[in-house]
Amino acid sequence: MRKNILMLSLIAGMVALSGAGMFVNSAKAAAPSAESCKDCHTDKFASFMKSRHAKGAITGPNGTGACLTCHGPSMAAHLEKGGGKGTGAFAFGKKADPATKAAQCLTCHGDSKHLALWESSKHKSVGLSCDSCHSGHSSLAKNLKMPQTELCFSCHKDIKSEAGRQSHHPIKEGKISCSDCHDPHGSFGSKSLKADSVNDLCYKCHAEKRGPFLHEHPPVAENCMSCHIAHGGNHNKLLEQKAPNLCHNCHTGSGHFTGPYTAANGFSSLTTVAARAVGRSCLNCHAAIHGSTTAGKQGKYLAR
Ligand code: HEC
Ligand code: HEC
Ligand code: HEC
Ligand code: HEC
Ligand code: HEC
Ligand code: HEC
Ligand code: HEC
Ligand code: HEC
Ligand code: HEC
Ligand code: HEC
Repeated sequence: MRKNILMLSLIAGMVALSGAGMFVNSAKAAAPSAESCKDCHTDKFASFMKSRHAKGAITGPNGTGACLTCHGPSMAAHLEKGGGKGTGAFAFGKKADPATKAAQCLTCHGDSKHLALWESSKHKSVGLSCDSCHSGHSSLAKNLKMPQTELCFSCHKDIKSEAGRQSHHPIKEGKISCSDCHDPHGSFGSKSLKADSVNDLCYKCHAEKRGPFLHEHPPVAENCMSCHIAHGGNHNKLLEQKAPNLCHNCHTGSGHFTGPYTAANGFSSLTTVAARAVGRSCLNCHAAIHGSTTAGKQGKYLAR
């Protein structure tokens, strides 16, 4: 990183020195300093000065070439002409090529482990670039353009609506964030998940669901998503469906009757209210739905 920064200021310096009629602030500063942009770009100057990048990260607040690191490499023509569009200052914005924009940032961030998978990420493949989410002028954490949840929701309206349903992971409450589960810069897992598999992801926060159990419920170890949804839905506990329907996807009435209970069609051996499809339905008895640590028949049938 440090080497890159040095190289950049070196290149900036060389460009400045070789250019004719250069805008040189002082004998020491070979490239135009941020100050030289201040009068015409008051707002951008001010926002940059408040940003994380200006706090010593990029060649110092008033240091040589601070603005050039992202809007360079050269600003000679721009300054000569007294500013203006298309006069040699590199502009971000919708019209600019995403890869060229990313290159402005990757000069310094290319070797960050966070960005190792950017090139193969979904976000890159759909044409996003760093400035879709970050700004060089932000004073928010991680230089984001807006608070994270708001940022992700601004494009992912479907997820916003899921996360607003009755049962949901507490994302809008701010207890967890999208980036706890996803890496917006890409990952080895599917859907940019921050784990090799869905289950490995869930175990990070719900470790007790990993067991070990004396009696496992096979779909649990296989994929949490066979019963749950990730962001939110209309059934309690982020369930895809509620019992007994959920259970009926896989259990179709072997052994005791596992269909919906009616007055005529219930347990003959188990005539309690619990046997009816009321309240927690199947879960009234099969409460250890993720696996049981109880020995014997109780455990085998996932009762507590
Ligand atoms: C004399 C005034 C002036 C100075 C000095 C100046 N600019 Fe500009 N700059 C402008 C004007 C005017 C525009 C056009 C803005 C617009 O149309 O919104 C512009 C546009 C830009 C753009 C967008 C370019 C584009 O093609 O859309 C960038 C980036 C920029 N300036 C950066 C800088 C930086 C960095 C510096 C200091 C090294 C600087 N400017 C110095 C007046 C100036
Ligand atoms: C770390 C990279 C970075 C640095 C350093 C930086 N900027 Fe920017 N700048 C951006 C990004 C990204 C955008 C587009 C997003 C936005 O508008 O906030 C932008 C937008 C701009 C724009 C609007 C035109 C455009 O490109 O969209 C101007 C003008 C500008 N910056 C001027 C400056 C000035 C002046 C400085 C130095 C005081 C500076 N910038 C330093 C990254 C940077
Ligand atoms: C889809 C949105 C998005 C895009 C596109 C994106 N980022 Fe990020 N980036 C984020 C978010 C969100 C975080 C904060 C993650 C966190 O807090 O764990 C972040 C964090 C970072 C960090 C800080 C890593 C750390 O934890 O210290 C860097 C550096 C970074 N991004 C650079 C880039 C660069 C360079 C690009 C373009 C190649 C880029 N990002 C593209 C959303 C994005
Ligand atoms: C000249 C080198 C350089 C360039 C160019 C550069 N950065 Fe940085 N960036 C840094 C340094 C140094 C840090 C501070 C690292 C730290 O504090 O760990 C940083 C920090 C960050 C962070 C983390 C902020 C935080 O809160 O932890 C993000 C995000 C980021 N840069 C994104 C970008 C984006 C997006 C661009 C392009 C628009 C860009 N950077 C261009 C050098 C650069
Ligand atoms: C608790 C972990 C978790 C959180 C927090 C989370 N996600 Fe997800 N997300 C997942 C999982 C797991 C999947 C994959 C679901 C599947 O394969 O059925 C997924 C899938 C997605 C998809 C792909 C959907 C599709 O149909 O292809 C998008 C887009 C997405 N998430 C966006 C977000 C956004 C935006 C946020 C924050 C508002 C967020 N996620 C928060 C776990 C999470
Ligand atoms: C500028 C728009 C935009 C922003 C901002 C944005 N995304 Fe996306 N994202 C997309 C598009 C477009 C796709 C591809 C289509 C889709 O899956 O919806 C995508 C895909 C995804 C996927 C599926 C990835 C895969 O590998 O299949 C996830 C997960 C995701 N985004 C999470 C996030 C998170 C988390 C944030 C906030 C940090 C975010 N996105 C911000 C536009 C955006
Ligand atoms: C980053 C941590 C984190 C990850 C990863 C995570 N969760 Fe959660 N989960 C939470 C938090 C926090 C809650 C809310 C707990 C509370 O409010 O008591 C929660 C609650 C739940 C609930 C109960 C919801 C309710 O309405 O009571 C279910 C079910 C759940 N998570 C399933 C999953 C599944 C399945 C995965 C994997 C896709 C997963 N979680 C990944 C943090 C996480
Ligand atoms: C066979 C369906 C099924 C599978 C597969 C499944 N769950 Fe559940 N899960 C449920 C049911 C049903 C409930 C509601 C239990 C209740 O209300 O007592 C639940 C509740 C939860 C809860 C909230 C209540 C609690 O017990 O803490 C969490 C967290 C949870 N599951 C996480 C997971 C994780 C993580 C996985 C994957 C390792 C997973 N589940 C796999 C059916 C399943
Ligand atoms: C994705 C499929 C799937 C779903 C959904 C599912 N199960 Fe299972 N369940 C299995 C499999 C596979 C077994 C292993 C025994 C077998 O092959 O029948 C099993 C075993 C059981 C057993 C132990 C039976 C024995 O003989 O050891 C009980 C009890 C049980 N499930 C109850 C439930 C209940 C209650 C629900 C709903 C909350 C449910 N299951 C949802 C697939 C599923
Ligand atoms: C009143 C308690 C009770 C309720 C309610 C209940 N079960 Fe059971 N279930 C049992 C008992 C006890 C066993 C052990 C075998 C037996 O004695 O019939 C069992 C066995 C099972 C088995 C393993 C044997 C077999 O039949 O394959 C499955 C699967 C099962 N139940 C699924 C369900 C599903 C699905 C529901 C909801 C539709 C449900 N159970 C409702 C008590 C109950």
